[in-house]
Amino acid sequence: MKRFIPTLLLVLAVGAGSRVIAQHATAFDIEDGGRAFESTCAGCHGPDGNLIAGIDFRRGVFRRPLTDAEIVAIILRGIPNTPMPATPGMNEEQATQIVAYLRSLPETFTEPSTVGDAARGQAIFAGEGQCLDCHSVAGEGSRLGPDLSRIGLDRRAAEIELSLLDPDAEIQPTNRFVTVTPRRAEPVTGRLLNHDTFTVQLMLADERLQLFEKSELRDLAFVASPMPSYRGSLDAQALADVLSYLVSLRGDSLP
Ligand code: HEC
Ligand code: HEC
Repeated sequence: MKRFIPTLLLVLAVGAGSRVIAQHATAFDIEDGGRAFESTCAGCHGPDGNLIAGIDFRRGVFRRPLTDAEIVAIILRGIPNTPMPATPGMNEEQATQIVAYLRSLPETFTEPSTVGDAARGQAIFAGEGQCLDCHSVAGEGSRLGPDLSRIGLDRRAAEIELSLLDPDAEIQPTNRFVTVTPRRAEPVTGRLLNHDTFTVQLMLADERLQLFEKSELRDLAFVASPMPSYRGSLDAQALADVLSYLVSLRGDSLP
């Protein structure tokens, strides 16, 4: 009896794969499509898909009505005589997953209830928010936390907002903090810059780099983000302002 199950699953999988209509996409298609969008399309369209005038994938806004098949064709072949390129090496299934992702966006997008002001956000960032104590933008600030000069290109607005409210919810692998306990010294906490078979390299709070031999360590543990949650300490308007400032950071102001 067991033998038949894989065959049945195979038949179902093939059946699902041959449907080209995004409405029938699975959660996995949407997730794969989202990843492909981030790596292939977000550089121009923005992580939220709203950086090209007249096109806003979050809200399902296109310059003209496009069927799923037309979007697949645009992804594969580009739009001639415009900057929208063909995507070499992408097949129809991957393009279909991206379409499924694009079509899914308006279902989850909610218009922000508070409209932010990026200039006020910049002032809060440098002032009462004390963000520069840990972050840098365009070369100014601290290197302890991640550089935010192009955060608006690298992350979706919703992800940035989550970082402000719940810093531990999602931490990029390059932003992790560890505490190492040497055999013969006090524990040290810092940002994990690098590690290989033999060594661990940390950046400490005062931006000093320190290298540890793994063989000299008693313990090494990941610790919570040192970033405080701003839920409550910044009000809804200030949070919206900071968020619009961060979303506007696309690296243009880099030297
Ligand atoms: C090099 C920058 C660039 C990249 C990369 C890029 N696009 Fe575009 N895309 C554009 C531009 C610019 C336009 C507007 C073209 C025009 O003038 O009509 C566009 C148009 C489109 C349109 C037509 C929208 C409409 O309303 O007519 C779709 C759909 C689209 N892009 C999807 C994608 C997807 C999906 C990806 C990733 C697989 C992608 N694009 C990658 C720049 C880019
Ligand atoms: C005490 C140090 C500290 C302060 C103060 C701080 N942060 Fe952070 N922040 C970090 C660290 C460390 C990380 C990386 C770990 C994580 O994601 O929580 C981080 C992560 C982030 C991220 C996510 C970055 C990414 O690549 O995904 C954003 C956005 C951010 N901070 C914005 C801010 C803003 C805005 C403020 C001020 C209102 C602020 N931070 C204040 C230390 C700090």
